[in-house]
This record gives sequence, structure tokens and C-alpha cells, in this order.
Amino acid sequence: MNLRKLVIGSVIFFLFVASKTITSADYLNLPITPYEYNVPLPNFYANNVANIDNSPITNPISNNGATLGRVLFYDKNLSLNRTVSCASCHKQSEGFSDSRTLSIGFNGGTTDRHGMTILNARYYQRGRFFWDERAVTLEDQVLQPLQNTVEMGLTAAQISERVTEQPYYNQLFINAFGDNTISNDRISKALAQFVRSIVSYQSKYDTGRATVNNPNQAFSNFTIQENQGKQLFFTPIPQGGGGCGGCHGTEAFVSTRPENNGIDAISTTDLGVGGASSPIRQNLVGTFKNSSIRNIELSAPYMHDGRFATLEQVVEHYNSGIQAHPNLSGILKDANGDPVKLNFSAAQKNALVAFMKTLTDNSVATEVRWSNPFCQTNLSFTGTISSGGFQSSNSIFVQSTSQILNSSTVNLVSGKSIILNPSFEAKAGSVFKAQISTCQ
Ligand code: HEC
Ligand code: HEC
Repeated sequence: MNLRKLVIGSVIFFLFVASKTITSADYLNLPITPYEYNVPLPNFYANNVANIDNSPITNPISNNGATLGRVLFYDKNLSLNRTVSCASCHKQSEGFSDSRTLSIGFNGGTTDRHGMTILNARYYQRGRFFWDERAVTLEDQVLQPLQNTVEMGLTAAQISERVTEQPYYNQLFINAFGDNTISNDRISKALAQFVRSIVSYQSKYDTGRATVNNPNQAFSNFTIQENQGKQLFFTPIPQGGGGCGGCHGTEAFVSTRPENNGIDAISTTDLGVGGASSPIRQNLVGTFKNSSIRNIELSAPYMHDGRFATLEQVVEHYNSGIQAHPNLSGILKDANGDPVKLNFSAAQKNALVAFMKTLTDNSVATEVRWSNPFCQTNLSFTGTISSGGFQSSNSIFVQSTSQILNSSTVNLVSGKSIILNPSFEAKAGSVFKAQISTCQ
């Protein structure tokens, strides 16, 4: 056994594919002309949200900028041990949220709160981010998970180092910014552009809404039950409705400010917005941001701690479970100042749920422009390890832990992650075939 033992990280690997040098096209499945990231919204929607868009004039969405952001969003090299990307916790198939109650970071640790959706993030007019609004802009927010010790674990300096390391970023930065200078500021701008591009506008609700002048009119594509639920959603509580539109408003179904919706009588461990600054702001204790409930069916579980598994439970909370928190929103109090009880019938509760499901937009889960650019390739190439190694990249996953013997041919089929087995062994001159199929 004349094998040279290799420990990933200690040796730099190079792949040579026949007579071809590996280019970014070998790592990434990107179109030659970038996808369109400024898709126009239907008129009723565009007019309604024009004034609540938090995009700064210093960072408008460009197709090349959002493309770079897309690659960064899915790149696992941006976590300390290269196991987690933004998309690990904001999954396209789960409405860009996380079906786990709490998310799991690079080292197995859990986040303090539920990973919420990032869909329609651009239409939170206050432009503040996280459940407790601790990030003052989206550009500020996107660098935080990278440096969070539970989530991705990098230092500020490591962020641009990790990006510089990857061969595919050079061209992507030139395309996006005109030159290949890599900085945290540019990384943040590109990530923010990608996040702002993720907007839902192709739901059953949108189809119906486009045919009427006013959302209160019945939609002809809705069932009787869905129209009833819509009415309950938008009608204020004193008029017999659920008052939901008062806080989940506009065509983006987005809130205007943090509120307390009475899920707890007192705040103990999580003080919400009130606890995000020092000294604690008592009048904001227990208030939380909620950005958009579009596509809510796909982003269970619900609330900042993911306490409700279903929309039925959410509706039951508003129907019978609102607690008298000291900062409970006035909208959810009755004339005596007590928490309201909606006392809805089973049919009314079901109608509300049915209406919220009309906000489901399955195209969000399948739009290629928001999908993982590393993994839908069906690349297949053969190569030789020239000097003991293997390039680490999301696009290639070594599944086999067996040794690669000189001159033997192995098929490396991409799996779900990029971790190269640390005891992976190879010898210069090993021939292999890498095949990349799907991965998530
Ligand atoms: C380990 C899981 C995890 C990873 C990785 C992660 N996030 Fe998050 N994300 C969360 C959680 C949990 C929250 C809510 C945290 C809070 O509010 O305290 C969140 C909140 C957000 C928000 C706020 C949304 C809003 O409406 O306020 C945005 C935007 C966001 N993440 C984008 C990103 C980006 C971009 C990346 C990659 C650079 C990323 N996340 C990586 C779990 C994760
Ligand atoms: C006073 C404002 C207010 C009203 C009225 C209100 N909500 Fe909410 N809603 C919130 C807040 C704030 C949150 C997030 C609270 C948290 O996580 O602690 C929330 C969360 C939700 C969520 C979960 C969102 C997520 O991302 O997990 C759903 C679904 C929801 N509300 C539906 C409704 C429905 C249906 C009604 C009407 C019956 C309603 N809301 C009325 C403020 C309100």
C-alpha cells in the first residue's frame, strides 16, 4: 500500500479534467444570460407596495448582483466547517423558512428562535430584521448569520477569505460590481439583493385579486369558504371579523410594526424587541416583528418560537387563547381592555384557514432563479488527482470513504452535503469520475 494519507485542509487539491481546466461552469449551473430578478408584480400589487419597499437607493437589485447573492446564499463554504449555508435554514421547498422548530447551526447547536421566512422581506417598511428587529437594515442583517457562533461561525475577516478562496467568485464579482474586489460590503449587498428578489405573487389569491378592484369583493376563483375566510380576515374585530388584516396588511400581507399578539401572559426568556436594546424597553417587551404571511402554509411551524405546528392552532390561538400580556396590542382587546375572544364557529375557523391557504404560491418552491445553483447540474467528468487532493466545493461530494487507489476509477456521486471525509485517502495519479446529480 503505497498510499499517501491526506487530511483535508492540510493539502491543497487540484482536479484536472482531461485537457480541460475547471471553470465556474463546472461548479455552478448558471445561465449565460442571468435570470431576471426584477420581475414586475401585477398592477394591483405593485401599486400597493411601492411605498413600503425597503430597498435602499444604494443597493438596487441587478440581475448579476442577485445571481452572485444566490451563489453566496447556497455556498456551504461560508460556514466554519463547510456544512451549512443560508439555505440550510431558509429552504426553498419550505417557503424559505425552516420546518424545524429551532434551526440547527454548523456545529449542531440550536438557534434561539424559529427560522422565519425571508419571502417578501423587502416589503417590511421599517426595514428592520429578525423577530426582535435587532438588525437595522437587510444589508446589516445578512452578515450576522455568517458570524453567529451557532449558525455559521465565521469571523468578519473569514467571510471574504472564504469567498476569495473559491475559483468561481472572481467572474461573479466582475459581473456584479465591475471588478473583482471581494469585500464584506459587496458580499452583504449581493446577499441582500438576492433576498429582496424573493417575492411571492403567483398564488390563487393573486389570480382572484387581479380580477376585482377591491380585495373585499368576492373572488370568482375562490370557493364560498375561501371568500368567507377572506372576509373574516379583513373585517375588524368589532364588526365581527378576525381583525387579521389590521396587522397582516397590504397586498404583501406584512405587518407595519412589532406587536404583542398575546401568545404569553408574561415574557420570561424571550423579551422580543424590548429585550434587544439596553436598557430593556419595557413598552416593547413581548412584541415581535412579523414580516409576511404570504405562503404561510409552506412555512410551519409558526410564531417566533415555532410553538404552533398548524394554521388551525394559530387560528384557535386568536379565537380563544389570547393572553392578557401587559403589552397586548389594542387591536386584540375588547371594550373592557380584556383579551378578545372571537368565539368563531368551527366553520368560520376552517374558512380562515382555507383563506390563508389561498396565499400558497408553489412557484416560490420551484423557481429556478431562487434555487440551488450548485446542485442541479448533471455534470460528469473524469479527472486525475495531480498532487494529492481534491478541491473542496459544494458541487462535489465524496461519498465513498474508501481509498482511491492509483489508477482505479471511482464514481463520486454528489450527495446532500460537501463534507469531505477527513480520513479520505488518495494518491497522486488517481483517476476518478465525478458525477453531479441533485443535492439540497
Ligand atoms: C442555522 C440556521 C440559519 C442560517 C444558517 C441562516 N439563518 Fe437566517 N435566520 C435563522 C433564524 C433562527 C432567524 C431568526 C432569528 C431571530 O430573529 O433571532 C433568521 C432570520 C433571518 C432573516 C430575518 C427575516 C426577517 O423578516 O426579519 C433573514 C433576512 C435571514 N435570516 C437571512 C439569512 C441569510 C442571508 C443567511 C446566510 C448568510 C442566513 N439567514 C443563514 C436561521 C438561520
Ligand atoms: C395586533 C396585531 C395582530 C393581529 C390582529 C393578528 N396578528 Fe397574527 N401575528 C402578529 C404577530 C406580532 C405575530 C408574530 C408573534 C410572535 O411570533 O410572537 C403574528 C403571527 C401570525 C402567524 C404566524 C406567522 C409566522 O411567521 O410564524 C399567523 C399565521 C398569523 N399571525 C395569522 C393571523 C390571523 C389569522 C389573524 C386574525 C385572526 C391574526 N394573525 C391577527 C400580529 C397580529
